[in-house]
Amino acid sequence: MFNKRMMVMMAALLVLLLGLAGCGQKAADKPAAKVLKVGAETTFPPFEFQDEQSKEYVGFDMDLARAVGKQMGYEVQIQSMGFDGLIPALEGGNIDLIVSGMSITPERAEKVSFSKPYYKSGLSIIVKADNQTIKGFKELEGKKIAVQIGTTGAEEAKKIKGATVREFNSNAESYMELKAGGVDAVVNDLPVNQYYMAKSGDKSAKLLSEISNAEDYGMAIAKKNGELTEKVNKALEELKKNGEYDKIYEKWFGKKPQA
Ligand code: ARG
Repeated sequence: MFNKRMMVMMAALLVLLLGLAGCGQKAADKPAAKVLKVGAETTFPPFEFQDEQSKEYVGFDMDLARAVGKQMGYEVQIQSMGFDGLIPALEGGNIDLIVSGMSITPERAEKVSFSKPYYKSGLSIIVKADNQTIKGFKELEGKKIAVQIGTTGAEEAKKIKGATVREFNSNAESYMELKAGGVDAVVNDLPVNQYYMAKSGDKSAKLLSEISNAEDYGMAIAKKNGELTEKVNKALEELKKNGEYDKIYEKWFGKKPQA
């Protein structure tokens, strides 16, 4: 009686041990990939936008974010959200990194830690093709301007005397509002305005040549996550060295980055 019970118990123990060993084995074969949660506002082509067919988030930033993640040994997960929600999401720990054409500004740098700059940008204006009066920022005084909420373009527009600034959640809405005649101009980042002019087929609009404010895009990391800032900077540096950055740049801008 006693022996039988012992046997059963030992058998059970053996099964348990084998099972545990099996688990250990499996875990060692396929370590769970570390996930890096990247936040972006995805109506900002060619930096971040949704591919109509595949529904994937694509663009210069998205490729660069995935390359940086890979370099650091992470699998990148993109989370799309409003531009004005990005810094709160980072501070709240819902995302690890912002890669969203975000310009490095002193105000933002008080809240988040920025990587080294990865793209040179600036602001520009789109007006109706037949508009003869608005030639640059000076003539925006007293005019109606469409911008994206929370952006440097919005900040800049609000400084213009007598201007009525209409803030939209997505960039598509700003361009639509111009087309519909609800505003006189759209103020937005130059490369995004250029992309719109090149790809939208919108013949009713024109891009003005005046550009304001040199702005640098940086990836943003929570202040408390200093280690990640270092890792991101190192990854960016490596991608610049090994030619991967140039490859991604050429893919989206059709030319080599200026030195
Ligand atoms: N560079 C501008 C800024 O930092 C606009 C960025 C908008 N980005 C976006 N993904 N919608 O304010």
